[in-house]
Amino acid sequence: MMKEGGLLQELIQKSPWFKSSDIRPYVYVRAENHIPTPGQKHNLSWFQGVEPIYKNPLSLDDLEFAEQIYFIESSAFGPANLAMPRWVFYDCAVVPGFVAGFAHRTSTLPAALKKILRHSPDLDWTPLSLFIIIPTMARGEWAAHNLCSVNSLLAPADQFYGLGFLSKAFGLWYANVETCVGMTQWASPARKLHSHYGPMEILTSYTPVHSHAETLTYRLKVNVNSWMLFFTREPDLEFLETYRPSGMFVDPKDRSSLLQLQTQLERGEGPYYLSAAQIASQGLTEPLSIYTPKRSKG
Ligand SMILES: CC(C)(COP(=O)(O)OP(=O)(O)OC[C@H]1O[C@@H](n2cnc3c(N)ncnc32)[C@H](O)[C@@H]1OP(=O)(O)O)[C@@H](O)C(=O)NCCC(=O)NCCS
Repeated sequence: MMKEGGLLQELIQKSPWFKSSDIRPYVYVRAENHIPTPGQKHNLSWFQGVEPIYKNPLSLDDLEFAEQIYFIESSAFGPANLAMPRWVFYDCAVVPGFVAGFAHRTSTLPAALKKILRHSPDLDWTPLSLFIIIPTMARGEWAAHNLCSVNSLLAPADQFYGLGFLSKAFGLWYANVETCVGMTQWASPARKLHSHYGPMEILTSYTPVHSHAETLTYRLKVNVNSWMLFFTREPDLEFLETYRPSGMFVDPKDRSSLLQLQTQLERGEGPYYLSAAQIASQGLTEPLSIYTPKRSKG
């Protein structure tokens, strides 16, 4: 196992943009929602010593920054007819929570980005990604509401590897998030990212109350020890020490398999978990092992 310094080098090798002075994290947050002690909870050096760019959703001065966030979101989700209505962004995201992500210095914006993004020379920084997170009523628990990056709009050669992953990582680190619930569609490539922030417990496997019934609701205890595995693809020894394959599988493309698992969850047979390493290593439509804790509940 590599030490933190070596791991940081590995991250930078795969995502060289991460250390560019032209790219910085941003936090789009109203003053009342500012996190008083950012980055105190999790022992991780990745984002230390970097001052984020702050933007204020209640200020007209920052409206254009929001328009640029909207532009990325609607370009990424629009084709699937899932673009977020403006009132959802305002009422359900930035009033109760905040948006985090990375932004590029506008004066050095590469041509490939200029071509696909809304941008303005009047703004110092142009957003490249967004991660929305909202506190829930459960103590220490936050809900991940939206994740989006320009990579989904760029040709592979122009992409910023890890942009989506690091946007969510930054938000979780910044807000000292202990527990994160989230929702993702079984068919979404985002599953490959979401599973890497801590052991992914399945809360629902079939969710018809959502506009997409094939939605997975998950909860995870944030564990920064596993974050680097997104880049190194080393086995997650901590996960393997704590959880074992139950012998059961879930087939993401088979509604009856999702329903069967949902029935088991509702009967209280869980908790059930998914392995990030397995999700990363196989296609999105392949069946997944269901893991259970090695120590039983009692
Ligand atoms: C899903 C999304 C947020 C991922 O962000 P990203 O910046 O593209 O991804 P990252 O660079 O952080 O991570 C790359 C890894 O993600 C996975 N990935 C990203 N896009 C993928 C795709 N279209 N198909 C399969 N895997 C994909 C891969 O595992 C890849 O790593 P690998 O090639 O080494 O295996 C981004 O593609 C996006 O905005 N998509 C549209 C909106 C969306 O679906 N959001 C998720 C809602 S839950």
